[in-house]
Amino acid sequence: MTRIPTLLLLLLCATPSLASDDVQAQLIDKFQQGQYSGKGADGCLMCHGRDEQVTALFASPHGSLDTSASPMAKLQCETCHGPQGKHRGKNEPMINFGDEANVSAELQNSVCLSCHEDTERRDWHGSRHDFSEVACTDCHQIHTADDPVLSPAGEIATCTSCHSSEAADMM
Ligand code: HEC
Ligand code: HEC
Ligand code: HEC
Ligand code: HEC
Ligand code: HEC
Repeated sequence: MTRIPTLLLLLLCATPSLASDDVQAQLIDKFQQGQYSGKGADGCLMCHGRDEQVTALFASPHGSLDTSASPMAKLQCETCHGPQGKHRGKNEPMINFGDEANVSAELQNSVCLSCHEDTERRDWHGSRHDFSEVACTDCHQIHTADDPVLSPAGEIATCTSCHSSEAADMM
């Protein structure tokens, strides 16, 4: 008799929306526990150092050691991806952004806005997009020397990825 409910529960847990809510809850919990590694980027690069997409960060403003405002002067990778905790791969997630995001746009943006709090009020940014729906990383790329949206051609390509019908109007 107890088999049916158990199976149902398992099936429900396997649906994507519930699974991602679980991941987000897990990440919020982990963030609050705040178990930062103490090894900074070096600890992460032991595993992620061969991934060129990851190391491209060091050619960008966020990977620079030149300014005390940079993530590299703070908790380094964990400034954005949250505390490592027990993360060693799939066993425990890290906060992720962009196409592979595993938390809401609002939570992702709160990470960015912890340093760019002026950005939300800025004319262009504030007026057109509700940042509880659109993530900063829907437009911006971080692990790259040149964020495409900051160049004129890249900006149009980024906008039209969502606003296809308005492409002509915007030009
Ligand atoms: C300023 C915030 C920020 C910092 C600092 C940062 N990242 Fe990221 N990371 C991102 C964003 C945003 C993405 C999503 C892809 C993108 O926008 O480039 C990402 C994606 C990733 C991914 C996933 C790539 C994939 O295939 O999905 C890994 C792994 C990663 N970062 C590791 C690191 C490591 C290691 C460091 C430190 C050397 C680091 N990150 C520092 C913001 C950051
Ligand atoms: C022992 C190896 C190891 C270490 C150390 C490690 N990672 Fe990972 N990480 C992985 C693997 C493997 C994956 C890929 C999991 C998958 O394919 O889904 C991953 C995935 C990720 C992702 C994508 C989101 C996710 O959870 O799948 C991010 C972001 C990330 N790592 C950031 C970091 C950061 C930042 C550090 C340092 C604080 C770090 N990692 C340390 C092995 C490691
Ligand atoms: C620890 C603080 C910190 C965090 C967190 C942070 N940034 Fe930055 N960001 C900086 C600094 C410092 C610069 C370089 C100086 C400047 O342009 O303000 C910068 C520059 C930028 C730029 C301009 C890049 C360029 O090439 O000129 C963009 C866009 C940006 N950040 C977006 C983001 C987004 C999106 C996030 C969240 C994923 C984020 N930042 C998280 C500190 C931070
Ligand atoms: C709809 C696309 C889009 C979204 C969403 C977006 N940006 Fe931008 N961002 C741009 C464009 C385009 C520029 C360059 C033109 C400009 O400055 O207005 C820019 C410029 C920037 C700059 C550097 C230039 C400056 O004015 O200092 C920073 C920093 C930045 N954005 C941060 C953020 C943060 C943080 C978020 C999320 C709260 C965000 N952006 C969301 C498109 C976007
Ligand atoms: C991730 C998808 C996405 C991207 C990328 C994006 N937008 Fe949007 N945009 C939206 C959404 C969703 C809305 C509606 C927001 C709302 O209703 O509050 C919107 C609204 C707007 C509006 C207001 C439209 C109106 O009728 O009031 C303008 C203008 C706009 N976007 C311009 C841009 C520009 C310029 C870019 C590139 C720099 C861009 N968008 C990139 C999703 C996106």
